[in-house]
Amino acid sequence: MADNKRVDEVTGVETTGHVWDDDLEELNKPLPKWWLWVMYVSIIWSIGYWILYPAWPLASDYTKGMLGYSQRAVVAEQVAAGKAAQAKFVDAIQKAELSSIPDNPELLSFAIAGGNAAFKENCAPCHGRGAQGFKGYPNLNDDDWIWGGDLAAIKQTITHGIRNADEDSRQSDMPKFGKEELLEKAQINDAAEYVLSLSGSGSDAAAAERGKEVFAENCAACHGEDGKGNPELGAPNLTDSIWLYGGTKQDVVTSINTGRGGVMPAWNTRLSEATIKELAVYVHSLGGGQ
Ligand code: HEC
Ligand code: HEC
Repeated sequence: MADNKRVDEVTGVETTGHVWDDDLEELNKPLPKWWLWVMYVSIIWSIGYWILYPAWPLASDYTKGMLGYSQRAVVAEQVAAGKAAQAKFVDAIQKAELSSIPDNPELLSFAIAGGNAAFKENCAPCHGRGAQGFKGYPNLNDDDWIWGGDLAAIKQTITHGIRNADEDSRQSDMPKFGKEELLEKAQINDAAEYVLSLSGSGSDAAAAERGKEVFAENCAACHGEDGKGNPELGAPNLTDSIWLYGGTKQDVVTSINTGRGGVMPAWNTRLSEATIKELAVYVHSLGGGQ
Protein backbone atom coordinates (compact mmCIF):
# COMPACT_ATOMS: atom_id res chain seq x y z
CA MET A 1 0.00 0.00 0.00
CA ALA A 2 2.57 2.56 1.16
CA ASP A 3 4.32 1.92 -2.12
CA ASN A 4 1.46 3.45 -4.03
CA LYS A 5 1.86 6.87 -2.35
CA ARG A 6 3.02 9.49 -4.83
CA VAL A 7 2.48 13.14 -5.75
CA ASP A 8 -0.34 13.60 -8.24
CA GLU A 9 0.91 15.54 -11.28
CA VAL A 10 -2.32 17.41 -12.01
CA THR A 11 -3.06 18.82 -8.50
CA GLY A 12 0.42 18.64 -6.95
CA VAL A 13 -1.14 16.91 -3.87
CA GLU A 14 0.15 13.68 -2.32
CA THR A 15 -2.12 10.63 -2.64
CA THR A 16 -3.09 8.36 0.32
CA GLY A 17 -1.88 5.26 -1.47
CA HIS A 18 -5.41 3.79 -1.82
CA VAL A 19 -6.03 2.62 -5.38
CA TRP A 20 -9.26 1.25 -6.82
CA ASP A 21 -9.78 -0.41 -10.19
CA ASP A 22 -6.04 -0.08 -10.82
CA ASP A 23 -6.08 3.64 -11.61
CA LEU A 24 -8.55 5.41 -9.32
CA GLU A 25 -6.46 7.08 -6.56
CA GLU A 26 -7.43 9.10 -3.47
CA LEU A 27 -5.79 12.52 -2.78
CA ASN A 28 -4.65 13.14 0.81
CA LYS A 29 -6.66 16.25 1.78
CA PRO A 30 -7.26 16.35 5.57
CA LEU A 31 -9.79 18.73 7.16
CA PRO A 32 -8.35 22.20 7.82
CA LYS A 33 -6.90 22.61 11.31
CA TRP A 34 -9.09 25.59 12.22
CA TRP A 35 -12.20 23.57 11.39
CA LEU A 36 -11.13 20.71 13.62
CA TRP A 37 -10.39 23.10 16.50
CA VAL A 38 -13.77 24.71 16.21
CA MET A 39 -15.35 21.27 16.41
CA TYR A 40 -13.28 20.19 19.45
CA VAL A 41 -14.08 23.41 21.28
CA SER A 42 -17.79 23.00 20.44
CA ILE A 43 -17.78 19.50 21.87
CA ILE A 44 -16.11 20.63 25.10
CA TRP A 45 -18.48 23.62 25.34
CA SER A 46 -21.57 21.47 24.86
CA ILE A 47 -20.47 19.02 27.55
CA GLY A 48 -20.03 21.96 29.91
CA TYR A 49 -23.47 23.23 28.88
CA TRP A 50 -25.12 19.86 29.57
CA ILE A 51 -23.63 19.82 33.05
CA LEU A 52 -24.57 23.39 33.95
CA TYR A 53 -27.90 23.99 32.18
CA PRO A 54 -31.18 22.10 31.55
CA ALA A 55 -30.46 19.98 28.44
CA TRP A 56 -31.58 16.38 28.00
CA PRO A 57 -35.20 15.22 27.94
CA LEU A 58 -35.89 12.21 30.17
CA ALA A 59 -38.96 9.93 30.23
CA SER A 60 -41.12 12.36 32.22
CA ASP A 61 -38.65 15.07 33.21
CA TYR A 62 -35.39 16.59 31.98
CA THR A 63 -31.84 17.11 33.28
CA LYS A 64 -31.93 20.31 35.32
CA GLY A 65 -28.21 21.29 35.21
CA MET A 66 -26.11 22.39 38.18
CA LEU A 67 -26.93 26.11 37.93
CA GLY A 68 -30.66 25.52 38.49
CA TYR A 69 -31.48 27.92 35.62
CA SER A 70 -35.06 28.04 34.32
CA GLN A 71 -36.45 30.36 31.64
CA ARG A 72 -39.83 30.11 33.29
CA ALA A 73 -38.42 31.40 36.57
CA VAL A 74 -36.66 34.25 34.75
CA VAL A 75 -39.91 35.31 33.05
CA ALA A 76 -41.80 35.06 36.36
CA GLU A 77 -39.15 37.27 37.96
CA GLN A 78 -39.41 39.83 35.17
CA VAL A 79 -43.20 39.88 35.39
CA ALA A 80 -43.01 40.35 39.16
CA ALA A 81 -40.48 43.16 38.72
CA GLY A 82 -42.76 44.82 36.13
CA LYS A 83 -45.76 44.54 38.44
CA ALA A 84 -43.79 46.02 41.33
CA ALA A 85 -42.71 48.94 39.16
CA GLN A 86 -46.34 49.52 38.13
CA ALA A 87 -47.76 49.05 41.62
CA LYS A 88 -46.70 52.55 42.60
CA PHE A 89 -48.74 54.05 39.74
CA VAL A 90 -51.71 51.72 40.09
CA ASP A 91 -51.86 52.64 43.75
CA ALA A 92 -51.64 56.35 42.97
CA ILE A 93 -54.43 56.06 40.38
CA GLN A 94 -56.55 54.08 42.81
CA LYS A 95 -56.24 56.89 45.37
CA ALA A 96 -56.33 59.89 43.04
CA GLU A 97 -59.48 61.92 42.47
CA LEU A 98 -60.57 60.96 38.94
CA SER A 99 -60.86 64.57 37.79
CA SER A 100 -57.31 65.34 38.97
CA ILE A 101 -55.58 62.61 36.94
CA PRO A 102 -55.33 64.68 33.71
CA ASP A 103 -53.48 67.39 35.68
CA ASN A 104 -50.67 65.00 36.61
CA PRO A 105 -48.67 64.25 33.43
CA GLU A 106 -46.99 61.16 34.88
CA LEU A 107 -50.24 59.60 36.10
CA LEU A 108 -52.03 60.67 32.92
CA SER A 109 -49.62 58.89 30.59
CA PHE A 110 -49.63 55.78 32.78
CA ALA A 111 -53.45 55.79 32.89
CA ILE A 112 -53.74 56.22 29.12
CA ALA A 113 -51.29 53.38 28.46
CA GLY A 114 -53.05 51.10 30.95
CA GLY A 115 -56.48 52.12 29.67
CA ASN A 116 -55.42 51.47 26.10
CA ALA A 117 -54.29 47.93 26.97
CA ALA A 118 -57.45 47.20 28.99
CA PHE A 119 -59.59 48.62 26.17
CA LYS A 120 -58.04 46.32 23.54
CA GLU A 121 -58.64 43.37 25.84
CA ASN A 122 -62.18 44.09 27.07
CA CYS A 123 -63.92 46.68 24.93
CA ALA A 124 -62.57 46.20 21.40
CA PRO A 125 -64.90 43.28 20.55
CA CYS A 126 -67.88 45.65 20.71
CA HIS A 127 -66.41 49.13 20.19
CA GLY A 128 -63.59 48.20 17.77
CA ARG A 129 -59.83 48.30 18.36
CA GLY A 130 -59.71 51.99 17.51
CA ALA A 131 -62.95 52.68 19.46
CA GLN A 132 -64.49 53.57 16.09
CA GLY A 133 -67.65 51.60 16.94
CA PHE A 134 -70.01 49.56 14.79
CA LYS A 135 -73.71 49.68 14.09
CA GLY A 136 -75.33 49.49 17.54
CA TYR A 137 -71.99 50.07 19.32
CA PRO A 138 -71.11 53.73 19.63
CA ASN A 139 -67.97 55.38 18.32
CA LEU A 140 -66.06 56.67 21.36
CA ASN A 141 -63.70 58.97 19.42
CA ASP A 142 -66.26 61.56 18.44
CA ASP A 143 -67.90 64.38 20.31
CA ASP A 144 -71.28 62.74 20.36
CA TRP A 145 -72.13 61.28 23.76
CA ILE A 146 -75.30 59.35 24.44
CA TRP A 147 -74.78 59.22 28.21
CA GLY A 148 -72.39 62.14 28.71
CA GLY A 149 -68.71 62.56 27.89
CA ASP A 150 -67.11 64.04 31.01
CA LEU A 151 -64.81 61.82 33.07
CA ALA A 152 -67.39 61.07 35.75
CA ALA A 153 -70.12 60.16 33.25
CA ILE A 154 -67.79 57.90 31.28
CA LYS A 155 -66.65 56.18 34.46
CA GLN A 156 -70.25 55.67 35.55
CA THR A 157 -71.11 54.10 32.17
CA ILE A 158 -68.12 51.75 32.33
CA THR A 159 -68.60 50.82 35.98
CA HIS A 160 -72.29 49.93 35.82
CA GLY A 161 -72.95 49.41 32.12
CA ILE A 162 -76.19 50.02 30.24
CA ARG A 163 -79.53 48.19 30.46
CA ASN A 164 -78.15 45.23 32.40
CA ALA A 165 -78.93 43.67 35.77
CA ASP A 166 -76.53 45.88 37.77
CA GLU A 167 -78.52 47.95 40.29
CA ASP A 168 -76.94 51.18 39.13
CA SER A 169 -76.92 50.30 35.45
CA ARG A 170 -77.99 53.08 33.13
CA GLN A 171 -81.62 52.42 32.30
CA SER A 172 -84.00 54.00 29.85
CA ASP A 173 -86.14 52.32 27.31
CA MET A 174 -87.48 53.91 24.22
CA PRO A 175 -91.01 52.56 23.70
CA LYS A 176 -91.47 50.04 20.89
CA PHE A 177 -93.86 52.32 19.01
CA GLY A 178 -94.47 49.88 16.16
CA LYS A 179 -94.22 46.53 17.89
CA GLU A 180 -96.52 47.59 20.69
CA GLU A 181 -98.82 49.48 18.35
CA LEU A 182 -98.43 52.78 20.16
CA LEU A 183 -98.40 54.59 16.84
CA GLU A 184 -99.88 53.79 13.47
CA LYS A 185 -97.72 52.91 10.52
CA ALA A 186 -98.40 56.26 8.85
CA GLN A 187 -97.48 58.15 12.02
CA ILE A 188 -94.22 56.20 12.25
CA ASN A 189 -93.46 57.03 8.66
CA ASP A 190 -94.14 60.72 9.32
CA ALA A 191 -92.06 60.74 12.52
CA ALA A 192 -89.19 59.10 10.63
CA GLU A 193 -89.39 61.75 7.90
CA TYR A 194 -89.36 64.47 10.56
CA VAL A 195 -86.35 62.89 12.32
CA LEU A 196 -84.49 62.68 9.01
CA SER A 197 -85.33 66.29 8.22
CA LEU A 198 -83.60 67.34 11.47
CA SER A 199 -80.25 66.47 9.91
CA GLY A 200 -81.27 67.62 6.46
CA SER A 201 -81.71 64.16 5.00
CA GLY A 202 -85.49 63.85 4.71
CA SER A 203 -87.14 63.49 1.33
CA ASP A 204 -90.83 64.09 2.01
CA ALA A 205 -91.46 67.60 3.38
CA ALA A 206 -95.22 67.12 3.79
CA ALA A 207 -94.71 63.93 5.83
CA ALA A 208 -92.05 65.67 7.91
CA GLU A 209 -94.46 68.50 8.63
CA ARG A 210 -97.05 65.98 9.89
CA GLY A 211 -94.31 64.12 11.77
CA LYS A 212 -93.37 67.26 13.68
CA GLU A 213 -96.54 66.93 15.71
CA VAL A 214 -96.09 63.20 16.28
CA PHE A 215 -92.58 63.99 17.52
CA ALA A 216 -93.68 66.74 19.88
CA GLU A 217 -96.26 64.43 21.44
CA ASN A 218 -94.32 61.15 21.58
CA CYS A 219 -90.61 61.77 21.30
CA ALA A 220 -89.68 65.20 22.60
CA ALA A 221 -89.97 64.07 26.24
CA CYS A 222 -86.77 62.09 25.77
CA HIS A 223 -85.06 63.46 22.67
CA GLY A 224 -85.85 67.08 23.50
CA GLU A 225 -88.12 69.49 21.70
CA ASP A 226 -85.32 70.34 19.30
CA GLY A 227 -84.34 66.65 18.93
CA LYS A 228 -80.87 67.29 20.36
CA GLY A 229 -81.15 64.41 22.83
CA ASN A 230 -80.76 64.10 26.57
CA PRO A 231 -77.81 62.36 28.24
CA GLU A 232 -79.79 61.90 31.46
CA LEU A 233 -82.06 59.53 29.56
CA GLY A 234 -79.49 58.17 27.12
CA ALA A 235 -81.60 59.56 24.30
CA PRO A 236 -79.33 60.24 21.32
CA ASN A 237 -79.09 63.55 19.52
CA LEU A 238 -81.12 63.09 16.32
CA THR A 239 -79.93 66.25 14.57
CA ASP A 240 -76.21 65.57 14.04
CA SER A 241 -76.09 62.91 11.30
CA ILE A 242 -74.30 60.57 13.73
CA TRP A 243 -76.40 57.44 13.88
CA LEU A 244 -75.97 54.59 16.31
CA TYR A 245 -78.32 52.36 14.35
CA GLY A 246 -78.00 53.83 10.86
CA GLY A 247 -79.50 56.84 9.15
CA THR A 248 -81.45 55.41 6.23
CA LYS A 249 -85.21 55.76 6.30
CA GLN A 250 -85.48 52.02 6.92
CA ASP A 251 -83.03 52.21 9.86
CA VAL A 252 -84.92 55.08 11.47
CA VAL A 253 -88.28 53.34 11.00
CA THR A 254 -86.84 50.21 12.63
CA SER A 255 -85.52 52.30 15.56
CA ILE A 256 -89.02 53.71 16.09
CA ASN A 257 -90.67 50.32 15.66
CA THR A 258 -88.42 48.41 18.07
CA GLY A 259 -86.84 50.99 20.41
CA ARG A 260 -83.54 49.08 19.95
CA GLY A 261 -82.39 48.86 23.60
CA GLY A 262 -78.62 48.35 23.30
CA VAL A 263 -76.96 46.57 26.22
CA MET A 264 -73.47 47.04 27.65
CA PRO A 265 -72.20 44.88 30.51
CA ALA A 266 -71.14 46.33 33.88
CA TRP A 267 -67.40 46.13 34.49
CA ASN A 268 -67.22 46.62 38.26
CA THR A 269 -67.42 42.86 38.77
CA ARG A 270 -64.60 42.12 36.32
CA LEU A 271 -62.14 45.01 36.48
CA SER A 272 -60.47 46.76 39.40
CA GLU A 273 -61.36 50.32 40.38
CA ALA A 274 -57.94 51.48 39.14
CA THR A 275 -58.42 49.81 35.75
CA ILE A 276 -61.87 51.38 35.34
CA LYS A 277 -60.39 54.80 36.14
CA GLU A 278 -57.64 54.18 33.56
CA LEU A 279 -60.29 53.22 31.01
CA ALA A 280 -62.31 56.36 31.75
CA VAL A 281 -59.22 58.54 31.31
CA TYR A 282 -58.29 56.68 28.12
CA VAL A 283 -61.76 56.93 26.55
CA HIS A 284 -61.95 60.60 27.60
CA SER A 285 -58.58 61.23 25.91
CA LEU A 286 -59.68 59.75 22.58
CA GLY A 287 -60.69 63.13 21.29
CA GLY A 288 -64.29 63.62 22.17
CA GLY A 289 -64.12 63.97 25.96
CA GLN A 290 -66.10 66.84 27.47
C1 HEC B 1 -70.99 43.54 24.68
C2 HEC B 1 -70.67 44.74 23.98
C3 HEC B 1 -69.94 45.85 24.72
C4 HEC B 1 -68.76 45.77 25.40
C5 HEC B 1 -67.87 44.56 25.61
C6 HEC B 1 -68.46 47.11 25.83
N1 HEC B 1 -69.45 47.96 25.45
FE1 HEC B 1 -69.49 49.97 25.78
N2 HEC B 1 -71.32 50.06 24.90
C7 HEC B 1 -71.99 49.01 24.30
C8 HEC B 1 -73.28 49.48 23.80
C9 HEC B 1 -74.30 48.64 23.05
C10 HEC B 1 -73.35 50.85 24.12
C11 HEC B 1 -74.49 51.80 23.78
C12 HEC B 1 -75.69 51.45 24.58
C13 HEC B 1 -76.78 52.44 24.36
O1 HEC B 1 -76.82 53.44 25.07
O2 HEC B 1 -77.57 52.20 23.48
C14 HEC B 1 -72.11 51.18 24.81
C15 HEC B 1 -71.79 52.45 25.28
C16 HEC B 1 -70.61 52.81 25.86
C17 HEC B 1 -70.29 54.14 26.34
C18 HEC B 1 -71.22 55.34 26.29
C19 HEC B 1 -71.01 56.09 25.02
C20 HEC B 1 -71.80 57.36 24.98
O3 HEC B 1 -71.90 57.93 23.87
O4 HEC B 1 -72.30 57.82 26.01
C21 HEC B 1 -69.00 54.09 26.83
C22 HEC B 1 -68.21 55.23 27.41
C23 HEC B 1 -68.54 52.73 26.67
N3 HEC B 1 -69.54 51.98 26.09
C24 HEC B 1 -67.30 52.28 27.07
C25 HEC B 1 -66.94 50.94 27.09
C26 HEC B 1 -65.71 50.45 27.65
C27 HEC B 1 -64.60 51.31 28.23
C28 HEC B 1 -65.73 49.09 27.52
C29 HEC B 1 -64.69 48.09 28.00
C30 HEC B 1 -64.44 48.06 29.42
C31 HEC B 1 -66.97 48.74 26.86
N4 HEC B 1 -67.67 49.88 26.62
C32 HEC B 1 -67.33 47.44 26.54
C33 HEC B 1 -71.56 47.72 24.21
C34 HEC B 1 -70.37 47.22 24.77
C1 HEC C 1 -88.50 57.09 26.88
C2 HEC C 1 -87.56 57.87 26.09
C3 HEC C 1 -87.70 57.87 24.59
C4 HEC C 1 -88.78 58.20 23.83
C5 HEC C 1 -90.15 58.59 24.31
C6 HEC C 1 -88.34 58.09 22.46
N1 HEC C 1 -87.06 57.72 22.40
FE1 HEC C 1 -85.96 57.42 20.72
N2 HEC C 1 -84.44 56.72 21.82
C7 HEC C 1 -84.41 56.68 23.19
C8 HEC C 1 -83.23 55.98 23.61
C9 HEC C 1 -82.81 55.70 25.04
C10 HEC C 1 -82.55 55.60 22.43
C11 HEC C 1 -81.25 54.80 22.33
C12 HEC C 1 -81.64 53.33 22.25
C13 HEC C 1 -80.44 52.44 22.24
O1 HEC C 1 -79.32 52.95 22.27
O2 HEC C 1 -80.61 51.23 22.14
C14 HEC C 1 -83.33 56.11 21.32
C15 HEC C 1 -82.97 55.96 19.99
C16 HEC C 1 -83.68 56.50 18.94
C17 HEC C 1 -83.25 56.46 17.57
C18 HEC C 1 -81.96 55.83 17.06
C19 HEC C 1 -80.90 56.91 16.98
C20 HEC C 1 -79.61 56.47 16.33
O3 HEC C 1 -78.61 57.19 16.52
O4 HEC C 1 -79.57 55.46 15.62
C21 HEC C 1 -84.20 57.10 16.84
C22 HEC C 1 -84.20 57.32 15.35
C23 HEC C 1 -85.23 57.51 17.76
N3 HEC C 1 -84.86 57.15 19.04
C24 HEC C 1 -86.38 58.17 17.41
C25 HEC C 1 -87.44 58.36 18.26
C26 HEC C 1 -88.73 58.81 17.85
C27 HEC C 1 -89.09 59.21 16.44
C28 HEC C 1 -89.50 58.83 18.94
C29 HEC C 1 -90.95 59.16 19.03
C30 HEC C 1 -91.84 58.45 18.15
C31 HEC C 1 -88.70 58.41 20.07
N4 HEC C 1 -87.46 58.13 19.61
C32 HEC C 1 -89.14 58.34 21.37
C33 HEC C 1 -85.36 57.18 24.06
C34 HEC C 1 -86.62 57.56 23.68
